[in-house]
Amino acid sequence: MGKQKKGDIDKNTQVIRVNRMNPERDHIINAARLLRKGGIVAFPTETVYGLGANGLHESAIKKIYIAKKRPRDNPLILHIGYKKDIDLYARNVSAATKKLIRVFWPGPLTVIVKKRKKIPDAVTGGLDTLALRMPDNIIALALIRKSGVPIAAPSANVSGKPSPTTAAHVYNDMYGKIELILDGGRADVGLESTIVDCSVDPPVLLRPGKITRRQIEQVVGVVKNDVMNNHSLIHKPKSPGLKYRHYAPDARLILVESEPYDIKTTINALLRQYRAQKKRIGILAFFPGHKYHVRKNEVLVNLGMNTYRASRKLFETLRFFDAQNVDIILAESFPLSDHAIMNRLRKAASEIIIANNKDGPSL
Ligand code: TXA
Ligand code: MG
Repeated sequence: MGKQKKGDIDKNTQVIRVNRMNPERDHIINAARLLRKGGIVAFPTETVYGLGANGLHESAIKKIYIAKKRPRDNPLILHIGYKKDIDLYARNVSAATKKLIRVFWPGPLTVIVKKRKKIPDAVTGGLDTLALRMPDNIIALALIRKSGVPIAAPSANVSGKPSPTTAAHVYNDMYGKIELILDGGRADVGLESTIVDCSVDPPVLLRPGKITRRQIEQVVGVVKNDVMNNHSLIHKPKSPGLKYRHYAPDARLILVESEPYDIKTTINALLRQYRAQKKRIGILAFFPGHKYHVRKNEVLVNLGMNTYRASRKLFETLRFFDAQNVDIILAESFPLSDHAIMNRLRKAASEIIIANNKDGPSL
């Protein structure tokens, strides 16, 4: 068991396997009881695993911040079990918001709305707005409904690490810190929900996810892109990226962006450079045609170009590289440059290199 710091919750962490199509009643009842009385329960959603607490229970919510080592001013998403419950926790919900939840809930969409007073400041970090989501996972919905309270839940990783897509990932980050993990198998989507700020007009996309900006615009018209949404990073030749580092493996991730041919040439050049420095190297590729000649102590993963499969496997792969103790991950950019996968890779990167092979790789 890891070292306990003062203030940590010293618990034996139980992992219980739950049937994802037809959750065992007893497991749900026990977990719901634990949540209601202020305990912390990790549970599967369709996106990633969440670290849940009773969203109306201030001291329970505080335990989440401790377990995750999360900065206090980073607010949580409140998970609800029925669409109509939005009016219990939000006020002045716009027609556009109602349309969005009619189309996309239950599902991987989080809406930011004006909050009602009863929501503790611990959930919203003192903001006047609240993030709400109804997940599309039978276990999650059964748990929320049985508990009878909204469930505040961030992704169940230690802050800054890749989000967990299996119960084993949660266990790895959270053992000894939380009471219970419900194991509902691998998360289907693999990337966190799309977040849209609906407290402003027009709505603003705060975090891209499986539900794309275009899909949202088809329902509500124009959606603005958040300026902080790090797409601007691509315009810089190199970025220290540290300010944005997130979803990050322990290894140093170097992201190479450009045309497919330039990417491959640049990664091969980097491979030679880091081999000479005796670094243990991992390569994360997406282009099926790119064959890298790796040595025995090097780790190559090619996730392919299918967006659903690559999304599902991305965080798992970043954790796999860490489990293999690589020092450096050389990552190809995903072929669709504005896909949510690229948003996560850019945030995970220590360095972004724009490859330009016209006069040899620009390293
Ligand atoms: O798919 C998901 O959304 C997963 C599953 C568990 O539901 N949850 C998740 O939570 O990714 P978390 O805490 O890792 O990310 C929530 C994001 C944070 O970046 C937080 O800053 C933002 O939502 N957020 C929460 N409340 C907000 C608010 N009132 N205004 C703007 N952003 C908010
Ligand atoms: Mg998170």
